[in-house]
Amino acid sequence: MKNILVTGGTGFIGSHTCFSLLSEGYNVYAIDSLVNSSKKSLLYIEEIFRSRDIDISNKLRFFEGDIRKKDFINYIFKTALKEKKPIDGVIHFAGLKAVAESVIKPLNYWENNVFGSYNLIKSMKENNCKTIVFSSSATVYRFSSDNLLSEDNQLKPINPYGSTKLAVENLLNDITQDANGNWKIAILRYFNPIGAHESGLIGENPLNKPNNIFPIIINSAYTKEKLKVFGNDWPTKDGTCIRDYVHVMDLADGHIKALDFLLRNKTQLIKLNIGTGIGHSVLDLIKTFENANNVSVPFEFDERREGDVCQLVADNSKAKSILNWSPAKSLKEMCIDGWKWKNTNPKGYM
Ligand SMILES: NC(=O)c1ccc[n+]([C@@H]2O[C@H](COP(=O)([O-])OP(=O)(O)OC[C@H]3O[C@@H](n4cnc5c(N)ncnc54)[C@H](O)[C@@H]3O)[C@@H](O)[C@H]2O)c1
Repeated sequence: MKNILVTGGTGFIGSHTCFSLLSEGYNVYAIDSLVNSSKKSLLYIEEIFRSRDIDISNKLRFFEGDIRKKDFINYIFKTALKEKKPIDGVIHFAGLKAVAESVIKPLNYWENNVFGSYNLIKSMKENNCKTIVFSSSATVYRFSSDNLLSEDNQLKPINPYGSTKLAVENLLNDITQDANGNWKIAILRYFNPIGAHESGLIGENPLNKPNNIFPIIINSAYTKEKLKVFGNDWPTKDGTCIRDYVHVMDLADGHIKALDFLLRNKTQLIKLNIGTGIGHSVLDLIKTFENANNVSVPFEFDERREGDVCQLVADNSKAKSILNWSPAKSLKEMCIDGWKWKNTNPKGYM
């Protein structure tokens, strides 16, 4: 069975992907600095498997450390080799992701996201591992129209976070020219991942104040504090912004399929949107959450927020045809699973 290094493995998407990798029989070496997560997520993963009478103790290893330190990454490759489980591929989630913070601390974002990725890629090359799936984002696109965004859309991020994602994409593009390369690379551009594992045991656990809508909706449903909906005068059916929400387990599945595709195929670089291709307004999301969970989500309208765009919906046809991937879960399921996570762990992983 293949051995996979997962950077950012205790984070929101990383932990769900570790779960899916383990379910598919992969051995997982997860690393994380814990700057925005807790290693308890991995304990809960073990618990889910235990409840199914499956022992994964020798299939999941965790190493706390920072990808800005190349020696640390090299150490993981060497350890895996010593354990006779040489790393076959990497899924690279580790990074900072708060758009607003990236505007205030751009150097932190460049150092963490770009320099960290550079180190990882260098270490991969030194250890002769040339297969990587990279977490990119729809924020790399220039948002010019209200059409579905395809991978060929013009690229023009409008904040440092998006710039760092594009910089890593460019780095990955460039290394395909390396004469001794033989790289196999999948760049996945996520839209809006939400929801949680259906057990309610793992989910999104932002250590700082979240600025994406779904955790804010969950908090508001829980505390009954009013949330702010930014803008009700956008040119959409109800005046609120439209986004493409994708269940985190479908996203995890997209990673497994991308990894499997790379491992089975020749040297190449693919760029794929991972979204459902269906747009929902902020009000749709709030109403669906309320109806699915029989709770109220108090909200009020506020001014449009700087940097927001009206609509962001994926053209996911390429991921569907190349990976044979298809999102299976509905918006209602995303809302039910997210709320179950909150009620199972009201304080996250505390
Ligand atoms: N969640 C989203 O809406 C979204 C959308 C598009 C892209 N992404 C990207 O997907 C990836 C995962 O996102 P997430 O939502 O799971 O975020 P997350 O913050 O939950 O996970 C990222 C993980 O990386 C770790 N990390 C950060 N810097 C590190 C470093 N230098 N060394 C080691 N570990 C480090 C954090 O502790 C965290 O556990 C990120 O790269 C993010 O930019 C996320």
